[in-house]
Amino acid sequence: MRRMSWLRRVMISLAGLALAGCAGAPSMLRPASSVSAREAWLFWVVLAMAAVVFVLVEGLIVLIVARDRRRGDEAGEPTQVHGHTRLEIIWTVVPLLLVILLFGLTIGTMRAVAAPEPREGDINVRVVGHRWWWQFDYPDYGFTTANELHIPLGSAAHLTLESADVIHSFWVPQLAGKTDLIPGAINSMWLSADAPGTYDGQCSEFCGIQHAGMRIHVIVESREDFEAWVSTQQAPPVEAATALAQQGEDMVLTGVCSSCHSVRGTSAEGKVGPDLTHLMSRSTMAGGMYPLNGAYLRRWLANTQEMKPGNLMVVRLAPDDMAAVLAYLTQLK
Ligand code: CUA
Repeated sequence: MRRMSWLRRVMISLAGLALAGCAGAPSMLRPASSVSAREAWLFWVVLAMAAVVFVLVEGLIVLIVARDRRRGDEAGEPTQVHGHTRLEIIWTVVPLLLVILLFGLTIGTMRAVAAPEPREGDINVRVVGHRWWWQFDYPDYGFTTANELHIPLGSAAHLTLESADVIHSFWVPQLAGKTDLIPGAINSMWLSADAPGTYDGQCSEFCGIQHAGMRIHVIVESREDFEAWVSTQQAPPVEAATALAQQGEDMVLTGVCSSCHSVRGTSAEGKVGPDLTHLMSRSTMAGGMYPLNGAYLRRWLANTQEMKPGNLMVVRLAPDDMAAVLAYLTQLK
């Protein structure tokens, strides 16, 4: 009975892994960039070599056990072959050659995925990991955003990676390998994609209770769309259009919100939470966990701990304040 449940657990895990590999989950085995394609290639080569070795070695063990097992009336020790020089040389030299081959393939792959020289049109992004969201600064364009990284198709994004608190790890499996964000250090990596689309990623270094709620969305778009997005982000924040929104603006810009959040060019200059200047231009919120719209924003502000338990924003807006704050935030397009 116990063995059955153990076996069942293994089967379910394997099925889960298989599904994760071919269903919607982002996988490095469905590469969408030259870097991840090369990494996936190395994975399959190593797997194939390991499979051949496994089948050969296990096959020989099974063969020898079956062939040389004790039969009926046999007694005493079988013939000993200790000190068989030719065999000893073979099983020393063959693994050594395999390891040297793997070393060469690894060095070749490292060279192939190394950052290229910056070219015309490439972009620079400063990535800061926070518990539990991502800050993306575009220093050449003078704005900052969160959780959604926009990249023009055909260009490389050169990232510098820092942490505001603990160790995080930036991982978008279909585009590149992982790089850690380490407090007090600056790491770097680069990204590019073969085709337009949205590529999902995830913090991959355990960083606390909402580690899983620290998602990345990389939006790869045409140069034209990218430039349009940059113009939107560079524009000053929209000013309150109604009395209610004005009331909300006053609360956000001078109230408690401003100690953690920024709205560019205003008195709200907090650096703890995501920049709100063009909040509604993003399609996700709460570290990329939820779609961003008025309904989710309302649910979030009513009790931030309900949607993302343990997150560092502890707010429960009263119904009267809610209407005003929502009126202001939802016009920050
Ligand atoms: Cu950040 Cu895990």
